[in-house]
Amino acid sequence: MARVHLQGINKIYGNGFHAVHDVSLEIEDGEFMVLVGPSGCAKSTLLRMIAGLESVSSGDLSIGEKRCNDVQPKDRGIAMVFQNYALYPHMTARQNLAFGLETSKKPRAEIEQRVNEAAELLEISELLDRKPGQMSGGQCQRVALGRAMVRKPEVFLFDEPLSNLDAKLRVSMRMRISRLHRQLKESGRPATMIYVTHDQVEAMTMGDRVCILKKGEIMQVDTPMNVYHRPKNKFVAEFIGSPSMNMLPGKLVHSGEQLCINTLGQTFPLPVEQQTALANHAGKMVFLGLRPEHIRIDNQDSKSSVTAHINGIEEMGSEAFVHFELKGHSVICKLISPEHTLRHGSEQTLSLRMDKCHIFDHETGVNLSLAQ
Ligand SMILES: Nc1ncnc2c1ncn2[C@@H]1O[C@H](COP(=O)(O)OP(=O)(O)OP(=O)(O)O)[C@@H](O)[C@H]1O
Ligand SMILES: [Mg+2]
Repeated sequence: MARVHLQGINKIYGNGFHAVHDVSLEIEDGEFMVLVGPSGCAKSTLLRMIAGLESVSSGDLSIGEKRCNDVQPKDRGIAMVFQNYALYPHMTARQNLAFGLETSKKPRAEIEQRVNEAAELLEISELLDRKPGQMSGGQCQRVALGRAMVRKPEVFLFDEPLSNLDAKLRVSMRMRISRLHRQLKESGRPATMIYVTHDQVEAMTMGDRVCILKKGEIMQVDTPMNVYHRPKNKFVAEFIGSPSMNMLPGKLVHSGEQLCINTLGQTFPLPVEQQTALANHAGKMVFLGLRPEHIRIDNQDSKSSVTAHINGIEEMGSEAFVHFELKGHSVICKLISPEHTLRHGSEQTLSLRMDKCHIFDHETGVNLSLAQ
């Protein structure tokens, strides 16, 4: 069993900087948990505390059933993969893979078997006699991953392992790590994986669950689908998804029996499903959140349409991001297979998919639409 539990964890660095604030997180045995957030939000600090490379200022850290706050890194049953590979430059790939096992005095035959097994799985068998300087970044990163694998840890810790690789290699390494996680599960010895990244695509595609951090505090822990479709607050809503969710400031108002939002000088009725959740918030200043795919150019007048001028088009091939100027606000709309009639500066009628909207408290950023 290698669940990892953090309970009320704080980190205050030697200079007095309070980097981690009361973080509680339960990572289950065999789970793939991604820690994601902007630079400086304390992803590495958290991971390094789990690894034992950084002390815990207060709170309880347990791995398996054991409290680990004061356990030596080598006795925690973990292996870590870093962004910069951290391979020994004077050793061959084979020696790098075997090093940790040799220092722990494993029998020679077993070391050889584990190294060959990992090399085969990672398709680096032909590279085993090369030194890091004779390999590409992607190959070095596979050796680094292999070095973690041969130790058969119960917990793998990854700190932005793919950020030095080009886009294509990142995709294939991403798949490889996900596959390794799946294979270990299928073979009956699942490994818990904790993966730090600032790349939301990695977070969404790799994680069983995603933990979104902001300035050392947890904003939401949930499945990738839920953080996308049911963001708890404005920070998560804007962080997850590309381009970001559009945010328009407004006010909740009653119009007859109906609850509406007043924004852009217009009044838009809110969806029936949200009327109850939002009923108590009438009169409040809020943000209307709409994902770029939930704004359509349909040039049809309706209760939820607005007119806007195009002030930028980003053609991506199969899709396009169209930037609009909307009464002093900029709004992005995502189109699949865009029509080529769209021109810079032209006026369009947009329809807002209000059934997909989120309403965020202007002050606290809490997603009011989710309240029951
Ligand atoms: N040794 C240290 N002493 C004081 N403050 C530190 C120390 N190490 C990190 N910090 C601060 O703690 C905060 C969290 O740093 P950390 O490296 O964990 O962030 P991160 O989320 O991994 O960022 P990045 O995405 O840039 O790697 C930052 O504000 C950083 O400046
Ligand atoms: Mg970091």
